[in-house]
Amino acid sequence: MSAIRMDNVWKEYGDQIVLENISLEIESRAFVALVGPSGCGKTTFLRMILGQERPTRGAIFMDGQPLSPEPGADRGVVFQRYSVFPHLTVLGNVLIGRELTAAPFAGRLFGSARRAAIEDARAMIADVGLEGTENKYPAQLSGGMQQRLALAQALLMPPKVLLLDEPFGALDPGTRAEIHQLMKRLWNETPMTVVMVTHDMREAFTLATRVVAFERPRDRPEEKMRYGATITRDLHIWPTRRAASTD
Ligand SMILES: Nc1ncnc2c1ncn2[C@@H]1O[C@H](COP(=O)(O)OP(=O)(O)O)[C@@H](O)[C@H]1O
Ligand SMILES: [Mg+2]
Repeated sequence: MSAIRMDNVWKEYGDQIVLENISLEIESRAFVALVGPSGCGKTTFLRMILGQERPTRGAIFMDGQPLSPEPGADRGVVFQRYSVFPHLTVLGNVLIGRELTAAPFAGRLFGSARRAAIEDARAMIADVGLEGTENKYPAQLSGGMQQRLALAQALLMPPKVLLLDEPFGALDPGTRAEIHQLMKRLWNETPMTVVMVTHDMREAFTLATRVVAFERPRDRPEEKMRYGATITRDLHIWPTRRAASTD
């Protein structure tokens, strides 16, 4: 079954058409890279899957069901910056998702539930290569370490769909290559579908099973408001790449 299906989705802000008639099926366990010029609606597209924005027209389905309109634990997200909370420690940042789900008002767990959550969070922190930083704050970490933390935070629950918005775009090339290896492993080991926006074609071809390009077919200034971006390329990586574990 497809993890995500979009049927004739449009997104408009006032008079401005941002996305125009997007229909797309994303297979479960796919790793889709989304590319396209700045301002063409890539973040808007991710925010619709996340449930932060609704399509103006059309419908989105997750595992065959209409997408629940609120962001939930089934969808994780990492942005280029500011995915983690600056006033929480590394451990606190990884725990927060579980705490808010278990105790939405108090935001705290107690007793054995808390001990189990801490154990899981520590294991996740070690898994992304951040062992020993549990009591540090994000500002005390490098950019690469902060993005590792953001991944650990998004994956503790773990989500069915992981949404990544240029997550590695601000990292230097060496750090980026290391985190690509981590990302590959996490995708292989976690039964999730990934949708990643990137500016970097090399990154797209390194990680993805499929590369989807958005473009505005008519882009003259007087046409900008009246025509949105749509899918102009849809490329399956050859040879076919698949996640190591399918469930
Ligand atoms: N909340 C919003 N209200 C009004 N316009 C918005 C909003 N969010 C995005 N836009 C507009 O939608 C267009 C696409 O933005 P975005 O999805 O951020 O593009 P990209 O991520 O591809 O750079 C831009 O013109 C932007 O100004
Ligand atoms: Mg964007």
